[in-house]
Amino acid sequence: MKHKLTLVALMALLAMVACNPRPKVATYLDPNAPVEERVEDALARMTIEEKIAIIHAQSKFSSPGVRRLGIHELWCTDGPHGIRPDVFWDKWDQAGCTNDSCVAYPALTALAATWNREASALYGKSIGEEARYREKDVLLGPGVNIYRSPLNGRNFEYMGEDPYLAAQMVVPYVQEVQKNGVAACVKHYALNNQEAYRHHTEPVLDDRTLYEIYLPAFKAAVVEGGSWSIMGAYNYFEGQHACHNDRLLNQILKQEWGFDGAVISDWGGTHDTEEAIYNGLDLEFGTWTNGLTQGYANAYDSYYLAQPYLKKIREGEVGTEELDDKARRVLRLIFRTAMNANKPYGSLVSEAHIEAARQIGEEGVVLLKNDNHTLPIDLSTKPRIAVVGENAIKMMTVGGGSSSLKVAAEVSPLDGLRKAVGESGEVLYARGYVGDVNTQYNGVVAAQDLHDDRSEDELIAEAVALAKECDWVVMFGGLNKASHQDCENSDRFGLELPYAQNRLIEALAAVNDRVVYVNISGNAVAMPWVESVPAIVQGWYLGSEAGNSIANVLVGNVSPSGKLPFTFPVRLEDNAAHSVGEYGGKGKVHYAESILVGYRWHETKNIAPLFAFGHGLSYTTFEYTNASLSSKSIREGGRVWAEVTVTNSGDRDGAEVVQLYVGDNEASVLRPVKELKGFQKVWLRAGESKRVKIEVPYEALCFFDDKAHAWRAEKGAFTISLGSASDDIRATLPLRLR
Ligand code: BGC
Repeated sequence: MKHKLTLVALMALLAMVACNPRPKVATYLDPNAPVEERVEDALARMTIEEKIAIIHAQSKFSSPGVRRLGIHELWCTDGPHGIRPDVFWDKWDQAGCTNDSCVAYPALTALAATWNREASALYGKSIGEEARYREKDVLLGPGVNIYRSPLNGRNFEYMGEDPYLAAQMVVPYVQEVQKNGVAACVKHYALNNQEAYRHHTEPVLDDRTLYEIYLPAFKAAVVEGGSWSIMGAYNYFEGQHACHNDRLLNQILKQEWGFDGAVISDWGGTHDTEEAIYNGLDLEFGTWTNGLTQGYANAYDSYYLAQPYLKKIREGEVGTEELDDKARRVLRLIFRTAMNANKPYGSLVSEAHIEAARQIGEEGVVLLKNDNHTLPIDLSTKPRIAVVGENAIKMMTVGGGSSSLKVAAEVSPLDGLRKAVGESGEVLYARGYVGDVNTQYNGVVAAQDLHDDRSEDELIAEAVALAKECDWVVMFGGLNKASHQDCENSDRFGLELPYAQNRLIEALAAVNDRVVYVNISGNAVAMPWVESVPAIVQGWYLGSEAGNSIANVLVGNVSPSGKLPFTFPVRLEDNAAHSVGEYGGKGKVHYAESILVGYRWHETKNIAPLFAFGHGLSYTTFEYTNASLSSKSIREGGRVWAEVTVTNSGDRDGAEVVQLYVGDNEASVLRPVKELKGFQKVWLRAGESKRVKIEVPYEALCFFDDKAHAWRAEKGAFTISLGSASDDIRATLPLRLR
């Protein structure tokens, strides 16, 4: 009886299933359907109003999805050094959440200084996991604007002066971030090379300079990195704002490079509906950035790509073809990120992330000078160490503009050094100078009071007295994240160190033979006292683990291996933009130095730098022997391999960055004496040798012929240089292009 009933129930169930097959999930909601099919399916279901809605912001950092259809919102976050704390819906102030503290990773200048693609991958993976955990869909970074002048307040957010280095370093960052289902948003495309008048300036440059210097890192991020979004810059280019610029966005980015992602405006970078419709912008953010002066309720509706666009469509002034293209791109971004059901879960402030921050920081520190083996500090002698300077104690993760963070923890250089020295010595502190005592940004407050009313003389006297009785003096100076230092929306006033630091450094050097100056900055600074200070270190902004990373280098737990990603000129006038070009102006700014940016200028014009591009010492030494090329000649489209044996000839382990530069000896057009076209970081135990092999493809010999609008090289003799820095070439090899 019982069995009979069960059989009847089963048959009834089968009959039901046969009559009512399970409804098919709509394609756009099917996480396993191809993204393009999801996009087309969603688009076909949306009204014009819904399409308009998804192409502009609904709050400071989000755009709406389509609630009716279950299409999710898109949440953006700064970027590029950590995940910004959540802000209020309509205000820049942090919202006061307690679950949004992050790990701050080293600033991108420091990452570039590692010259290590794997470090960049680790950075992208770690920050991508934090973004994912915080449920952000678009990470506003990395930044790859070229370092043209040391006055640019935002250089610390970029990857230096060389297009090849920046291009190589940006790709792994983008790829690893996006493995988390989080889009990278490479910024600021393009030519945002100064902060002064950033909404009003218009760089004027030839196509060759554009293609050779200012575009390659963006191109690599898009073409090789596969970046899902890109941020338009504030400045103008060829008469149009970069955020809606036919040349940059339609012709170059979308047509030449085949970009299928979304162009996002910089916050407040949109200025015209018509241009925004036709000139390549896809997603508008941040218009009226001052807290929405047009009124809270309707402000977002008044965006250029909101009601004004809809009105034009309704009145038949414009069609919907462009709207569909924008909506498609935004939907693609949503399906790749917010509605990507296959993405991992991410993690926040994990041990691995803290470790990554420390390790990248250690690798980025650059030892600029080390006379008499002043470094590392020898702890076997139980030294007394005088630490001097505001930057030894100032929390640097707060401030500087949109990259400001709220960190779970930040180790100051003083604390890092105290920990590294432990019982093996004594670390004493004197302030030395007072710089910027502000400790808050947008409501995030670093828990420290930096106020100090003592006079310059008193501060110097105290530091000098301490320096006299110590075995080592480590001064942490440089810039900070205040306005007109390393800070968004303003530029520096000059190359000099602020806050009378030169006076302090000279006074310290006069009383102690072992002065170590650690420069905390994202920019080059003048060092008029360079001859009297035996050891100089470039310490960057290293984020949460700053103090531990620097201390590990100073006491020798780690041998430094960073190399400068930009030139330190002796004087500002030695920099090309300030010598023959223009910088910092409001309207047209002529880039008269053309392709001779950074070391390209110094090398070609024979102007000795203070510290050269690619320079960076180690606690050990490296020898280069048996350099060779796989062939003495190359043909169009071909490639050769350069090889060299690098030997760690010192008595401790270390890493060296082998740099490969190309020079065209017989060019009919202007060519820099040498240009970076390859590099490889190599780890060597004391006494160990390795053969390093670097590819030289035909493209490495090319220049951009703007008349032909093509890359090409002229036949004849080239020189391949292998070295430890742009000004420390260890082997030159002739190569002929046939
Ligand atoms: C900056 C961007 C940033 C955005 C959002 C702008 O002012 O230029 O880099 O991502 O604000 O904070």
